Amino acid sequence: MILLAIPWMIILIVSIGPPIKKNLMDSEQPRRILVDTDVDTDDVFALFYLLKQNKSEFDLQAITINANGWSDGGHAINHIYDILFMMDKDHIPVGVGGEGGILPNGTILPNVGGFLPIIDQGMSTAGGCRYRQAIWVGPNGRQDINSNFGLRKAFLPQGGRKYTPLEQPTAQQVMINAISGGPTTVFLIGSHTNFAIFLMSNPHLKKNVEHIYVMGGAIRSYCSNGTNSTRSESEQCSSIGNLYPKESNPYAEYNIFLDPFAAYTVLHSGIPVTLIPLDATNTIPVSKDFFIELEKRQNTYEAQYCYQSLKIIRDNWQTDRFHEDYDMWDYFMVGTALSIMRNSQSYNGENEFSEMEYMNITLVTSNGPYGISDGSNPLIDGLAVPKFNIQKNGVHAGHVQMGMRDPFCSRVGKGKCQDGYMKEVAGPEAVRVLVATKAKPSHDSGSLLEKEFYESFLDVLSSPKADWEV
Ligand SMILES: *[C@@H]1O[C@H](CO)[C@@H](O)[C@H](O)[C@H]1NC(C)=O
Ligand SMILES: *[C@@H]1O[C@H](CO)[C@@H](O)[C@H](O)[C@H]1NC(C)=O
Ligand SMILES: *[C@@H]1O[C@H](CO)[C@@H](O)[C@H](O)[C@H]1NC(C)=O
Ligand SMILES: *[C@@H]1O[C@H](CO)[C@@H](O)[C@H](O)[C@H]1NC(C)=O
Ligand SMILES: *[C@@H]1O[C@H](CO)[C@@H](O)[C@H](O)[C@H]1NC(C)=O
Repeated sequence: MILLAIPWMIILIVSIGPPIKKNLMDSEQPRRILVDTDVDTDDVFALFYLLKQNKSEFDLQAITINANGWSDGGHAINHIYDILFMMDKDHIPVGVGGEGGILPNGTILPNVGGFLPIIDQGMSTAGGCRYRQAIWVGPNGRQDINSNFGLRKAFLPQGGRKYTPLEQPTAQQVMINAISGGPTTVFLIGSHTNFAIFLMSNPHLKKNVEHIYVMGGAIRSYCSNGTNSTRSESEQCSSIGNLYPKESNPYAEYNIFLDPFAAYTVLHSGIPVTLIPLDATNTIPVSKDFFIELEKRQNTYEAQYCYQSLKIIRDNWQTDRFHEDYDMWDYFMVGTALSIMRNSQSYNGENEFSEMEYMNITLVTSNGPYGISDGSNPLIDGLAVPKFNIQKNGVHAGHVQMGMRDPFCSRVGKGKCQDGYMKEVAGPEAVRVLVATKAKPSHDSGSLLEKEFYESFLDVLSSPKADWEV
């Protein structure tokens, strides 16, 4: 009882706290940031880039871990703890999981774990892996990501913080604490389960979320109209997503596919969203020139960890196209986001690293025809009243993909399910978002490095610890 009461006390105290300053952009205060991550390798590099910024400019308040993604909760949290210890950032709170759940009538209990996508979340963590089965367990899959191919324990120093089941600060609690503290920018670099649950259960804190930056989704095909120069020729232009295999759903990208309903909730929350989808990240692979340059600039632990991780992944890559196909997903998002935030007068997302464009999009969570209960959709099946007030004939009430080999989704030639697709639409379902479309070329035409962000990432990663940090 006491434990359950604490979150509400905090909310009460905070909601009568000082009013949020609206015009933060012009003030001298650091920008407060919360990162929700599933701790894949590129997430770690994204954290390096962020944590090596000047803290009086960008101040990371908290990290929450999305356990519905590429690594499992306990491993993910230990990985983050070790990284924070190495970087002398042990003060940053880290949350994962929680013992709460979602009742059959849709009531969300405090501290829900976020181990399962929202539509499948009940009162336990047991259940099928409707979406997460898209992430395999074997080589280069979950097992390898959990230990970062064995490198985590071999390389990173271990500090005092360790994963302690039941005593661990929960993701929801850490989000509530951080976002209660003032205007906060949220970076989502895993699936959106934690943050969507946060928004659904804390509507009064929404006003503190200034902006959401997302690495996720795919909107336009990279083949469409001339941006495919670095992609495998075997790739079909119609496959804009990156699921593997993609027979059932050629449209979705992993972070969004892992919980489309959560991503829909975030996109339609009314909070401004800026997206860095595959459209843009496809144009910034870990190129050979970048890799060679990184190998030369190994004067910090972060640069070493980054290089060694990338080397293992490259050496285990299934094809000889690593340098064309393995992209800078989450770190390119963080780079672009910080550059936009720095340039506070920019209303069109002007920044150093990426071309931007407004698009009107929505997010597909189920496949039509809508309102037909076929046993695939826990939001409507067998319920007199659909969960979460969704409409019986609405966009959430169709067939929900049941797995990578769902017969409903399979069609000869090209799969037809669109769960997780960020689709351009017109009309009332559309949300206007700023979208990254393409990495910018290097401004220095003499540079060996083709893209502006390559240089920035190397500079930041190899910058020694600043005096003001000591
Ligand atoms: C960090 O930013 C503050 C405030 O803008 C500035 O005074 C300080 O010199 C910066 N430190 C470094 C190392 O750039
Ligand atoms: C949902 O179920 C719980 C437990 O049975 C109940 O306490 C709560 O009032 C219900 N909520 C709604 C909105 O029906
Ligand atoms: C690409 O070009 C085709 C034909 O010119 C056009 O129909 C389509 O809308 C274009 N796509 C994008 C994303 O601009
Ligand atoms: C895109 O790929 C196709 C097929 O490989 C190729 O014919 C075309 O020239 C490429 N377009 C660009 C702009 O590179
Ligand atoms: C998005 O929608 C707005 C309002 O309906 C419209 O003015 C704008 O042209 C649309 N933009 C695109 C890229 O479709």
